[in-house]
Amino acid sequence: MIPQEIIDQILDTLDIVDVVSEYIQLKKAGRNFKASCPFHSEKTASFVVSPEKQIYHCFGCSAGGNALGFIMNYENITFPEAVEMAARKVGVELPANKRVSKQEQTLTERLYLVNKHAAAFYHNYLKSEKGKKGLTYLKKRGFTDEILKEFSVGYAPDEWEAFKKYCVEKKIPAELLKKAGLTISSEKGRGDYDRFRNRIMFPIFNERGNVVGFGGRVLDDSLPKYINSPETAIYTKSNVLYGLNFCKRGIREKGYVIISEGYMDVAIPFQFGVNNIVAASGTALTSRQAAMLKKYTDTAVMVFDADKAGEAASLRGLDVLIENGMKVRIVTLSEGDDPDSFIRKNGKEKFFDFLNNAKDLFDYKLDLLIKKLGADDIGGISDEMLPTITRAQNAVVQSKYIKILAERLGVHEASLRQEMGKVKKDYSYHSEEDESGTDKRSVNYQKSEVHLLGLAITDRRAFERIRTELGFDKFRDKNVNFVLRLVEDFYAGGHKDISPGKMLSRLEGNEAAKNAVLQAVVNADITKDVGKALKDCISCVRKENREEEIKVLTQRLKKAQTEKNDKEMTEILLKMNRIHKEKVV
Ligand code: CTP
Ligand code: MN
Repeated sequence: MIPQEIIDQILDTLDIVDVVSEYIQLKKAGRNFKASCPFHSEKTASFVVSPEKQIYHCFGCSAGGNALGFIMNYENITFPEAVEMAARKVGVELPANKRVSKQEQTLTERLYLVNKHAAAFYHNYLKSEKGKKGLTYLKKRGFTDEILKEFSVGYAPDEWEAFKKYCVEKKIPAELLKKAGLTISSEKGRGDYDRFRNRIMFPIFNERGNVVGFGGRVLDDSLPKYINSPETAIYTKSNVLYGLNFCKRGIREKGYVIISEGYMDVAIPFQFGVNNIVAASGTALTSRQAAMLKKYTDTAVMVFDADKAGEAASLRGLDVLIENGMKVRIVTLSEGDDPDSFIRKNGKEKFFDFLNNAKDLFDYKLDLLIKKLGADDIGGISDEMLPTITRAQNAVVQSKYIKILAERLGVHEASLRQEMGKVKKDYSYHSEEDESGTDKRSVNYQKSEVHLLGLAITDRRAFERIRTELGFDKFRDKNVNFVLRLVEDFYAGGHKDISPGKMLSRLEGNEAAKNAVLQAVVNADITKDVGKALKDCISCVRKENREEEIKVLTQRLKKAQTEKNDKEMTEILLKMNRIHKEKVV
């Protein structure tokens, strides 16, 4: 936790329009600024930045937040990192003793440092006399000295404690090595030993080029082929794409990213001049990785090995790319090849030529399913195809796909659409409330709560009216309720106006509450008649509360009836009466 005053101070100095303009081009539109959203693919400009409210919001993908949130999202960094970056930008001092996240922060820095030491150690070992075996292996596989240096490829000694001893000399604490996943505690209590031994070492870099972990390959056919760093404070497998730090510029320049499967399939092509290639390192792509790529391009070409190519399951993983608004194409290499071997045999030009054969994911998947299941298995095919289509963000693209699918399967578009309605999208921002609130009454009611919240944030007099006429206890959405109390504290603390941007900074880590605020503020923005909106929403919330009370009382009444508890029954009926009278008022 960083002290709120400091965050406020930063937000006071930092203008969201300046911040966003550093990354994307904004166009003035009335009181606001507009752009096409950097967080999802779109043709229209749904992305709005409000200088008054100091927030941004996308009507397309519902991304939103304040200036710090934008930096976090765009740079793909943590909140403390964004605060530090912003503080540097506006010249606000972050006093070390006020950095409550100090410990975490320094652990991160120290882990980066120890990994950097490790990469240097393994690389130097590779280049030393003792590392000949590793170097010979890599040379045989076509690595040049330049690429070994650029990718900091190394070799871990065939010893139990070589790196550990080196760190003792360098006064690097043993505890830190363990936290970095570079050593392992022996079960027999004989102290720690090196995790990586007698392996080719590929440092895994994060987007900004810090070493966050390692992949270690054996030099022969023994198993396991790779040992990877465990997840640590700085390494989460699903947050990293191997090669992205080297290729982010190339991806932007070429306008697409090639996604391959492994370390070798990035390093060797890169050496041949393919500077837009990354790997998810042996796991299915995650939404986080898709979002990372999305900052650089909206087009991905997947290169599959022949053995993976026939699996519909491996295609299912690609839906996350579609979901993040990327266009996905696929090529399959022939048996026994991967990008590494292909490019060594055929060179870079042939490789790019080959990529031109990539098929759209939709066509690829449909062809594959028809081949596998037979064209008659309409149910089987549509079960696999519809989730993919549902995830396409663009309605035009979606209806094109529906049309093609209907034609290929010989069914009506309408029936496909009907089936599509049943496909659960499972978007992360679908809150539980969304799912349960299917009946219209409760939707309206929820909308009223959120709308009132928006008015309370943007208009102090509205806030006072809501407090006196309704009271905060009546708000049943726990996020809305929580934020209202915060607004109350905010005014009580002597602030005159609330900046929604600052409000958001008080909700860091509470995504649901942040979403409520964004939605609320955006709603309030389009309110024409505040007085009428207040009246309608207040009465809607009152009504909902009354109905809820009646429901509870009815249940109690039934119970009292079966128990023949006359006293209780009279009491309940009196209460119900009172509620019905309130209704008339
Ligand atoms: N992988 C892994 N652990 C394994 C096997 C594979 O983490 N036991 C990951 C690695 O990131 C690897 C990728 O999956 O790079 C692809 O695996 P594979 O194709 O088997 O390895 P290559 O990188 O192609 O290595 P090589 O060409 O040396 O066989
Ligand atoms: Mn390979």
